[in-house]
Amino acid sequence: MCCSMRPTAVLLIALIGMTPAASAQAGPVPVDTAVLAFAPRVPLPITRRRPARVVVLLEAEERVGNLDAGIEYPFWTFGGQVPGGFLRVRQGDLVEFHLRNHPANRMPHNIDLHAVTGPGGGAASSLAPPGREAVFEFQAAAPGLYVYHCATAPVGMHVANGMYGLMLVEPPGGLRPVNREFYVMQGEFYTDSVFGEPGLRRFSMEKALAERPDYVVFNGEVGALVGPGALTARVGETVRLFFGNAGPNLAASVHLTGEVFDRVFPDGGQTPTVGLQTLSVPPGGAVIAEFAVEVPGTYTLVDHAIFRAFNKGAVGNLRVEGPANPKIYAGRVSEEVYLIEGGVIQTMPTPADSAARALTLTERLDRGRRVYGRTCIACHQANGQGVPGTFPPLAGSDFLNDNPRRAIGIVLNGLTGPVVVKGTTYNAVMPALRLGDDDIAYVLTYVLSQWGNSGAVVSREEVRHARLCPWCDASVPMPR
Ligand code: CU
Repeated sequence: MCCSMRPTAVLLIALIGMTPAASAQAGPVPVDTAVLAFAPRVPLPITRRRPARVVVLLEAEERVGNLDAGIEYPFWTFGGQVPGGFLRVRQGDLVEFHLRNHPANRMPHNIDLHAVTGPGGGAASSLAPPGREAVFEFQAAAPGLYVYHCATAPVGMHVANGMYGLMLVEPPGGLRPVNREFYVMQGEFYTDSVFGEPGLRRFSMEKALAERPDYVVFNGEVGALVGPGALTARVGETVRLFFGNAGPNLAASVHLTGEVFDRVFPDGGQTPTVGLQTLSVPPGGAVIAEFAVEVPGTYTLVDHAIFRAFNKGAVGNLRVEGPANPKIYAGRVSEEVYLIEGGVIQTMPTPADSAARALTLTERLDRGRRVYGRTCIACHQANGQGVPGTFPPLAGSDFLNDNPRRAIGIVLNGLTGPVVVKGTTYNAVMPALRLGDDDIAYVLTYVLSQWGNSGAVVSREEVRHARLCPWCDASVPMPR
């Protein structure tokens, strides 16, 4: 949702006053210190060394946004985006919190900040009907990383619709410096349809009660951290990830393929644990994870309950650029054939086709890019180069460009046995993918448009033809 929203929502944190003693020491404090901190961005570290009075203006806004390309959802938000704005204060600050409920909204909203010591985390004090503003104050007493969320009944529905975010309370000395900080929050969406079905979707209380989400996503949208939205860093840098799990139902198992988290503050607490691989984050919990990036490449952030990653949206990328580091990672050094179970095609159920209006080529390419990002990228890589000796390249592939219709069949039915691509033989197994006709057409059209490929366009009719008549060639009339 983040990238599709109009960028008008602003979280304003203004320092409007200090204690008289502090003011005497430091002089006037600027009033217009504003922080725009929507995921994956994070506000700058606190530099002052004494507590302040911090005014926070946050607006509840109900608005329709993108859950995926071509899929809209009526989000309820803090600040117009999912997740809501990242709040960053210092331990001991007095927070004057203004929760505004936009007049065009239909629901009352409030906020429960887990950083608050007091009844409901501020929920009762902050309840505001549409067109009203509630103001309450609290001291940021304990350092840590905290979830906030709407707590208006039905609470689960307000959370499931997107009303959550993170608040960081820095210790007096601040966090240790790093090169990059990122804000990622996982959340589930329960809809009146199935994953990938285009159109305007609605909340399903039935699925929420059954804890069976159609979507599990990072930062409110399938593909928010893929392609142009990928997180970026350079070799040799240090990274701090602020990861929250809104739930509302599922615990997250946070894993970054190809990395070990060097220092982790479980549940956003104060005592670090070192050297962790997969971080368990409960609904309503958060974690701070620090790591150094030492090898260039594209790393994949997933919920390691792995079907959520590749079939429900909980996948993102960290793209690290810089010189190779063969002492840490040498890449492939040898290759042998090893087939103990034989090559078998893994099949998965075929979904109902998604009915869709006629899309422009640009729209189809965008959808294809997203399908690629959640389905193909792990093997064929972000730049289509594949993995040497294992997964053939799609970039400049003679095998692909010579016969796109053959590629339709492979995506539909899987592939086992050797293929020769650009003079090299590959003998991996590709499973039959659970994609509808539209998505197959989109992703193949996207791949054919990239990386020096032919630019050929694949239609859903061609895919349907291949699905219904796999033994036919394209010159045979399409079966009815
Ligand atoms: Cu609410």
